[in-house]
Amino acid sequence: MITASAPGKIILFGEHAVVYGRPAIAAPVTQVQATATIRPGGHGIIIQAIDTHETIALDRAGPNHPLAAIVRSTLKHLGIFTADLSITVRSTIPIASGLGSGAAVSTAIVQALAMWTNTAVDEATVNALVYEIEKLHHGTPSGIDNTVIAYNKPVYFIKGQPIQTFTVACPFIVAIGNTGIAGPTKIAVGDVRKNWAAQRDQYETWFDQIGAVAQAARAAIEAGQIERLGLLMDRNQELLRAITVSSPELERLIDAAKSAGAAGAKLVGGGRGGNMIALVDESNCDAVVAALKDAGATSVIVTTIQ
Ligand code: PMV
Repeated sequence: MITASAPGKIILFGEHAVVYGRPAIAAPVTQVQATATIRPGGHGIIIQAIDTHETIALDRAGPNHPLAAIVRSTLKHLGIFTADLSITVRSTIPIASGLGSGAAVSTAIVQALAMWTNTAVDEATVNALVYEIEKLHHGTPSGIDNTVIAYNKPVYFIKGQPIQTFTVACPFIVAIGNTGIAGPTKIAVGDVRKNWAAQRDQYETWFDQIGAVAQAARAAIEAGQIERLGLLMDRNQELLRAITVSSPELERLIDAAKSAGAAGAKLVGGGRGGNMIALVDESNCDAVVAALKDAGATSVIVTTIQ
């Protein structure tokens, strides 16, 4: 039996604008994980997705089923055309919530199959295989989710450019609050595209401003100036609101976190639901977590970015 796992992720700065070539910053969240377990035996390849209660026979699954597709493309890469095994997939990463569950599940499957065949598959290859599946999930993904999860380290990401990692000079803490409402990334990304097509100059300006926030945030993180990140999160959230991807539930959690002392807060990922993050420190972390729960967060994860 072989098990591999991959973390969740948050986009600290720059979601949506990243689809249009601006920089964004993302970091892994190791408190939540997707795992893939391989057991040899049986007839053919069976994928069992525990969380979605699906059992998929590989030879009968359609070409666009994301789990079947990542298994097929990975086996092809490994030069394997037939096998008898079961792959069990589990995840503690909430689905459709901006934490990268799809990319993490795909990454865990690639790594488990690579381990099963004793093949070293480098991060760039994992990244490329998972990106193809992200297209099935999201339509026109920037590639940030698969990059941060495949490399498992904070990244400064610009679509189509080589991955840039950077130093977190001083670790900082974020509380991640879940609205409990599914965040439909594909719909949010599609709506932003329609708005952009209708008001191109305005959206290009907002995307430039989001990109500038991400760039300033990288400089602050590298310089250990954590106090600057709160204002930058707030500014990023104003711009996310402008491009219509916030929601009343996200705003309620953001307000609650800030009232309890968070230095800044914003939605993460596609928006319209899913999760938000708040910048906290050791002195206000417990109060912010309690305030998020009181304001209706269905779960709160505290993670250190380092
Ligand atoms: O909702 P998530 O975690 O899949 O993040 C989506 C991030 C976007 O910038 C909105 C889209 C993308 O492909 O980068």
